[in-house]
Amino acid sequence: MNRYLSVSVSLLVLSLSSCGSQTKTLASAYADYFPIGAAFNQSNIEMYQGDLVKEFSSLTCENEMKWLNVHPSDTSYTYEAADKMVAYAKSNNLKMRGHCLVWHEAIPSDLFLAKDGSTISKADLLAKMKDHIDNVVSHFGDAVYCWDVANEVVDDSTDAMLQDGSNVYRNSPWYTICGPEFVLDAFLYAREKLDALGLSQVKLFYNDYGLALPTKREKALAMIDYLQANHCPIDGIGMQSHYHIGSFSLSEFEKSIEAYAAKGLQVQITEFDVDVYDETLATSKNAAYWYQDALPADVEAIQTAIYRRAFQVLRQHKDSVTGVTFWGVADDSTWLDKSPVEGRKNYPYVFGVDHAPKTSYYAIRDF
Ligand code: GLA
Repeated sequence: MNRYLSVSVSLLVLSLSSCGSQTKTLASAYADYFPIGAAFNQSNIEMYQGDLVKEFSSLTCENEMKWLNVHPSDTSYTYEAADKMVAYAKSNNLKMRGHCLVWHEAIPSDLFLAKDGSTISKADLLAKMKDHIDNVVSHFGDAVYCWDVANEVVDDSTDAMLQDGSNVYRNSPWYTICGPEFVLDAFLYAREKLDALGLSQVKLFYNDYGLALPTKREKALAMIDYLQANHCPIDGIGMQSHYHIGSFSLSEFEKSIEAYAAKGLQVQITEFDVDVYDETLATSKNAAYWYQDALPADVEAIQTAIYRRAFQVLRQHKDSVTGVTFWGVADDSTWLDKSPVEGRKNYPYVFGVDHAPKTSYYAIRDF
């Protein structure tokens, strides 16, 4: 073989093999469906580089855009940490979800207090909220393609919804001080500011957990009815989707996607993970039954089946499903090692502690 031919053949082999390894990622497998995202935090962006990041096409900041982190006191806005995340997303070609503007957690301890220490008035609280929303959406501009405007506003008790609708909302200070208007106003403020900035393409979501449970779904739908009756510029529902292996109901999951889509809303899965402990069993709290060293194959098989079936449904509903995000990247870094049981090792994602794909990865990628 002459030298020219041999170099060309080697180049061809090289490009075919690198092409092969590049073609199949979660992001590429779902390119015609929806972005595949993950929540990252500041330590993760150091830990997760290279091929692992290429599996995704979207990023959510685990904490860095929350109120307490960007607006720790009335007079200060601190964006350094979030800006690093924005730069990481940009350099890895990831879209970003903005999470989250208004929540009852991750807020300064004096948010609901007036200057004299008494409970703040409704007008002053709404003015603070407007200042926050204006500042934050202006700062991030088109770096994010959608915002979770309000997080976890719906009551999460299993009490049936009362006919007068009086138990639809969580009894947080936001609600007790402002009533449901704070949700409506949060969307109106966000839309008004974004439109004024020429960012009408940025979509606005309501985000919550348990949105596939029949009782909570009924309450969420009642809130959506209230918002839509008042011309709320809501574009979509974020179903957080924190499951554990004993709690996933495929039919309720699908029914919920359909119910929110029937309101004319996009649906995103925003915080997907599958906890490997069945919380309905007493053994899940007993350290003798924890999987501290490795995830047993039979438990991984149950988790894989949940991921496989959920993604089948998501693909079938690709007309209404506009994003699917895991609440973490790989099993070596997860909030579920601390919650609900401190120190209990969990394995909720489709990449393992060594970052290698798990059986669930192939189950959702190779369809
Ligand atoms: C909720 C919030 C997330 C995160 C998780 C737990 O789902 O929306 O931002 O705090 O709880 O980590």
